[in-house]
Amino acid sequence: MNELPPKSGRTPGPDMVPTQPNPLRQDAPGSITEMPSPSHMGHIHINTDVNYQAMVDFYIKLFNGEETAQNPGNPMTFITYDDFDHRIVVMYKEGWGTKPDRAVGYSHLAFCYQSLGEVLFIYKRMREWGYKPHWTINHGNSTSFYYKDPDGNEVETVVDNFPAIETKAYKMHYQFSEDFGPMKDGDFDPDKMVELFEAGMPDTILLDRNEVKRLIAEGKL
Ligand SMILES: [Fe+2]
Repeated sequence: MNELPPKSGRTPGPDMVPTQPNPLRQDAPGSITEMPSPSHMGHIHINTDVNYQAMVDFYIKLFNGEETAQNPGNPMTFITYDDFDHRIVVMYKEGWGTKPDRAVGYSHLAFCYQSLGEVLFIYKRMREWGYKPHWTINHGNSTSFYYKDPDGNEVETVVDNFPAIETKAYKMHYQFSEDFGPMKDGDFDPDKMVELFEAGMPDTILLDRNEVKRLIAEGKL
């Protein structure tokens, strides 16, 4: 346990915390008549052992995030990237070892960004920090960079190639049709993608799977 990071310097104070519940909405009894769907995905807890601190570092860096709390009694670090109090929790499980190469369970977590520029900026920063994606692809519906955290859990940074409703239509009606072709045809070189982007090639081309396939065939991507 002596490798765990020190508790950060937050000072608890009664003026910093709400004193009574303040719910977003209160539903009158009987007013919910259908099975609700989630409003959003909340957070993920990840078990880890020998890579505890490296896992915390990875997610704080990837998210440009912040630590909101630690639980020293049952060691875990709460990390967020927005107004929510936690998005990822890294939990220390002494003696659990490492993740097997082929494990059932979640395949990867995907985090959505607003633009190709953001995803490429993250790529460049992650590359500087020694984290390289093992797969970069235009899926047609999205452009995705897949990394592995220090335990080998896969994490995707993704930008949709269309607004959400159009992306959904692409998924439902085209992505796995015969016209679409083999998925791997959208695999591209991330360094070349950065070069093209920084040379001014517009997102309308760089996010277009057909254009991406053409650029790959020409050796430019
Ligand atoms: Fe995904």
